[in-house]
Amino acid sequence: MKSKLRQKFIIGNWKMHTTAAEAGHLAKSVVDGVGTEDRVSVAVCPPFPYLALVGKILEGSRVALGAQNLYPEKEGAFTGEVSPTMLRDLGCKYVILGHSERRHKLGETDAFINQKVRVAFAAGLNVIFCVGETLEQRQASQTEAVLDRQIVHGLAGVATNAVPRLIIAYEPVWAIGSTGHQATPQQVQDAHALIRLRFGQMFGKELAQSLVIQYGGSVKPENAAALLRCDGVDGALIGGASLKADQFIAIVRAGTSEWHTKQEAASQPSHNPELEPKQTQMNASKLDSRN
Ligand code: PGA
Repeated sequence: MKSKLRQKFIIGNWKMHTTAAEAGHLAKSVVDGVGTEDRVSVAVCPPFPYLALVGKILEGSRVALGAQNLYPEKEGAFTGEVSPTMLRDLGCKYVILGHSERRHKLGETDAFINQKVRVAFAAGLNVIFCVGETLEQRQASQTEAVLDRQIVHGLAGVATNAVPRLIIAYEPVWAIGSTGHQATPQQVQDAHALIRLRFGQMFGKELAQSLVIQYGGSVKPENAAALLRCDGVDGALIGGASLKADQFIAIVRAGTSEWHTKQEAASQPSHNPELEPKQTQMNASKLDSRN
């Protein structure tokens, strides 16, 4: 599979943080910081109670609005839940589904996440579908099997025409938050190659080439460029650093310069072996021989 230029996409996942005042202030600072930048796509996902407030601030800006979850029904007797229709009504374009905090702390299963994914697409939302292994799973060499399972089950029954509205975020659970662990660019690149390959087996190579795969897990201004430079890394899902506008904007800037570097390299007439996804090819033969 040849590498393809995909625009970088930086998303802030504010999780269960901020007050209304802080959310408003943060949203304004992000809008100002992004300005008219159109070489990188940007979105923020505030907590449910602040979606309307933040949505108003984002109006007319280059920053899109996303939610952190939904319940897979249009409406009904589901006390405390939020439907995809409500998210659309509030101006949400994106929704994060399958986040590891919901998988592991709230017990969400692949089947439940799959229901959410399909309902989100049916409602016209774009889905940021998170996958990733725990430390125990990585140490037991189960990373490939876990990613495989999450993708196959989580995306089962998704129509091909919905796929352009899908973003996958690879988030190794052991690297999320202040765990003291950080994934190396090589680990990230390898996992992204596996995800793209598996996805290609389900939906075809062409769609796999256009698929945006973000990395998430302790992305900071200091490591963003190195991660965003990796082949097959098309953006980042940012938790902690998205709560500080200056840090988040620094990561957006890193995305802009990496996109430039790659675009310049791609426009060179001579073949550049550095841009070939070596790891993909290696992993491809490994996976292919299994099927
Ligand atoms: P982190 O969170 O950047 O704080 O590690 C990422 C995420 O959970 O989306």
